[in-house]
Amino acid sequence: MQKNKLQKLYDEHRPVFHFTSQKGWLNDPNGLIFFGGYYHLFYQHYPHGVNHGPMHWGHARTRDLIEWEELPLALYPDELGVIFSGCMVYDENNTSGFGTVEKPPLVAVFTHHLEGKGEALQYQSLAYSLDGGMSFQKYEGNPVLDLHLKDFRDPKVFWYPPTGKWVMLASSGREVLFFTSSDLKSWAFGERFSGKGLKPDEIWECPDLVELEDKQGKRKWVLFVSQNTLDYIRTGIRYFIGTFTGEGFQAEAGVEEELFADFGRDNYAAATYTLTGKRVIQQSWMNCWRYAEKLPEAGFRGSMTVPRELGLRKTPEGYRVTQMPAKEVWEKLQIFLQKIPDHAEISLASIPGVYQYTPEGENGKMLFCNENSRLQIAIDFAYGKITVDRSGCGKTVCDPYFQELGWQYFSRDARRELYVFLDVTSIEIFAAEGEAVGTFQYFIDKPFDRLITGEKVK
Ligand code: FRU
Repeated sequence: MQKNKLQKLYDEHRPVFHFTSQKGWLNDPNGLIFFGGYYHLFYQHYPHGVNHGPMHWGHARTRDLIEWEELPLALYPDELGVIFSGCMVYDENNTSGFGTVEKPPLVAVFTHHLEGKGEALQYQSLAYSLDGGMSFQKYEGNPVLDLHLKDFRDPKVFWYPPTGKWVMLASSGREVLFFTSSDLKSWAFGERFSGKGLKPDEIWECPDLVELEDKQGKRKWVLFVSQNTLDYIRTGIRYFIGTFTGEGFQAEAGVEEELFADFGRDNYAAATYTLTGKRVIQQSWMNCWRYAEKLPEAGFRGSMTVPRELGLRKTPEGYRVTQMPAKEVWEKLQIFLQKIPDHAEISLASIPGVYQYTPEGENGKMLFCNENSRLQIAIDFAYGKITVDRSGCGKTVCDPYFQELGWQYFSRDARRELYVFLDVTSIEIFAAEGEAVGTFQYFIDKPFDRLITGEKVK
């Protein structure tokens, strides 16, 4: 990449291979669906400012999960409220009646958030598209599910063949509520899932439920929630492994242990693409509510993670979810892939970069640096632990949570390669076959120019 173009990207904090909107604020990915040869990404968007504001659904699409085409806004606020997060389904049998059997609709299921005189209200609504997601019509019967709650949002809907019904999960405070429907319009309450060991200040958002298969063909249901807390130390994506009954979810015994999908600070509000067959492709908002509105901006603020393919791995400690960049991402970024030797010091010629590093011994280190900034990864295979320190990234953000170390234990039987995807404002680290994944933003004034590994790291 040309030097002046790169400098411009740095000045603007504009990532190269992660989705950003041209202008305005973005947060959660919404309505992810693979349809008509494109991956469609809708997202929480405030086009008129760089902070969270009255939410719309933005829209972009891609064929290769790297190059995105931004399209006109999909959903605008209306008299029922602003448009919060939700999902998209392909109503193939036209159960909703919004289309015809010959021309089935895409149906967006989303939260209307209404600020009133008293407490805000949240309820679930529908909008449909008969042109493959290019334009939407809101359902005149909205809202379709109203429990008069102030915290009731982020519906995820899927068709469940064994019961021949739609299933909806939505979060409410510290719970996930389950509903079923045969037409997407009228919903019956099923069960609730409360997990274990909840802290009083935890709130759950953006639930998602998928079935994953391990290499031996064993299948498990995995419930994801994004946990936001005020005081308690950890925010991020948690997951529970268990079974789905058609009406609710049961976590397996022994899940008091908190499993997080990412040991970085910048992976939140994960959602998965619909209609991808056996593949489960997840994408998240690459950010953290604690400091998201304090980060540098240049007319836009916020980006998404690279789309990742999920897997399941049986480890000595139990089942774990794995994440690796989706195969399209590997293909597209192949030209940047470099194998990095241990105990080396090399000049970094270009950003972006994809680095493969395999420590020779029990310990590995990678340091990305320039004269002002440093970001360090340390991995210890004897303990099965990875640590990332981004506190030395020059122009960092004034927030203690941003400065903290990220770390995670992983199972020691995993292969040792580390893959690092480096972009202008982020680093995504995939270790232990995708069992330990760390997503971190960083903000520095000029590109890292050296990568040092192993014993050469001081
Ligand atoms: C998660 C979230 C959702 C909500 C949306 C509002 O980041 O708080 O719960 O629907 O963002 O933009």
